[in-house]
Amino acid sequence: MQDMKTALITGITGQDGAILAQFLLDKGYDVHGMQLYSATPDTQRIEILQKHERFHLHYGDLTDGGNLHRLVRDIRPDEVYNLGAQSHVKVSFAVPEATAQINALGTLRLLDAVRDTDARFYQASSSEMFGSARPPQNEQTPFAPCSPYASAKLYAYWLVRNYRDSYGLHASNGILFNHESPLRGEEFVTRKVSRCVAAIAEGQKERFALGNLDALRDWGHARDYVEGMWMMLQQDKPDDYVLATGQAYSVREFVTLAFSCAGIRIVWRGAGLDEKGYDAANGRVLVTIDPQFFRPNEVNALVGDATKAQQILGWQPKTTLRMLVEDMVAADRAALREGHVPEDEGFGFSAAA
Ligand code: NAP
Ligand code: GDD
Repeated sequence: MQDMKTALITGITGQDGAILAQFLLDKGYDVHGMQLYSATPDTQRIEILQKHERFHLHYGDLTDGGNLHRLVRDIRPDEVYNLGAQSHVKVSFAVPEATAQINALGTLRLLDAVRDTDARFYQASSSEMFGSARPPQNEQTPFAPCSPYASAKLYAYWLVRNYRDSYGLHASNGILFNHESPLRGEEFVTRKVSRCVAAIAEGQKERFALGNLDALRDWGHARDYVEGMWMMLQQDKPDDYVLATGQAYSVREFVTLAFSCAGIRIVWRGAGLDEKGYDAANGRVLVTIDPQFFRPNEVNALVGDATKAQQILGWQPKTTLRMLVEDMVAADRAALREGHVPEDEGFGFSAAA
C-alpha cells in the first residue's frame, strides 16, 4: 500500500482551506492546518473536520517566520498549500501594510521554511494580478495589478518562480479566478448577495445595497478549484496554471440570477447612483446603490482562459453558475430557517474600509 501523504494547509479556516482539507482527507491524506490565534476563534467551517483522526490543527501565523520553520520541521509535509491571506481586495486599501506582511512576505517566510525540504508547494495566486489587463487572461497575459492586495500577490507569485528556478523547489502558482461556495466569506459580493436574497425570500429583510454592478467576473465553484490545486502538485514538474470557467457575468447578472433562484424576478431601472432593482411582481425596491461599497480603484473585467490547465492537468470546472448560485441561495435560506439572524447589509464594513 502507498504511504499516506501529509499536507500542511495555511488558511485552513477559510473557504478554500476547509474545502481542500475535506478533499485531501477523502484522498487518505494526513491533514495539518495552520490556524491563527484569536480570542474569539471562528472555526465554523472546519468544525466537522475536527472530529477526523487524520485532521490536526496548529497555531501559526504567516507573519511569524520562526513558527513556520518549526511547523514545517515538525510536520514534515509532502505538500504545502499556502492559502492563508488577507484576501479582501477592498480591505487591502485600508490595511495595505498588513496585507503585504501576510500575502507577500508571509509567502517568502513559508517558502524559506520549505526551501531545504522535498515538500511540494502550492501558492494561492490570483486573477486580481491581471488587474486592468484586457480579458480573456491566461498565463501569458502581462500583469497589471490595481490594488495593494494584487500587488502583494504578485510579489508572492514571482517569489514562487524564483524559488523554483533558484533552488529546484517543486513550487506552483495556481492563478485562480473567483470561486465561491456556501462557505464563502460574507463580505465578498456573491455571498453578500446570496445571504441578502435568502433573507428577502424568507421575509426577514426588505432590500440591500451594493457598489459597482458593472464589474465582470468569472465565477466558479470552490470545490472544482481545490481539485485543480491538488492536480498541480501531482505533476512531475512544477508550473503555473490559470483556473477559470471562461464565462463572464456582471454583478448585476449575478444578483438577477440569485433572485430568480428564490423565485423573484428583478427588473433594473435608473443609472449610476440612482439605479435600483425592483421586484417585477409588485414594484418594491430590492436593491440600491451605496457608494460606500465602491473601491478606490476597480478591476472591471476578469475572464480566464484555462486551456493550459485543461490540456496538461485534465482539469475543467464541473459546476455551472446557475448550479453555484442555487447552492449558495439554498444554503443561506436553510440557515435562516434554522434560526440564524441576518446581519445588516454592511456585514461589518465601515465606510472607511
Ligand atoms: P478566505 O476565506 O479569506 O481565507 C483566508 C484564510 O487566511 C483564513 O483562514 C484566515 O484566517 C487566514 N489568514 C489571515 N491572516 C493570516 C495570517 N497572518 N497567517 C495565516 N493565515 C492567515 O480566502 P479564500 O477565499 O479561502 O481564498 C484562499 C486563498 O486563495 C487566499 O490566499 C486568497 O487570496 C486566494 N484566492 C482566492 C480566490 C477566491 O475567489 N476565493 C481567488 C484567487 C485567489 P482567519 O479565518 O482566522 O481570518
Ligand atoms: N465585496 C463587495 N461588496 N463587492 C462588491 C459589492 C459589495 O457590496 N458591490 C459590488 N461589488 C463588486 C466589487 O467592486 C468587485 O468588482 C466585484 O463585486 C467582486 O468583488 P468581491 O466579491 O469582493 O471579489 P474580488 O473580485 O474583489 O476578489 C475576490 O476574487 C479574487 C480573484 O479574482 C477575492 O476572493 C480575492 O481574494 C481573489 O483573489
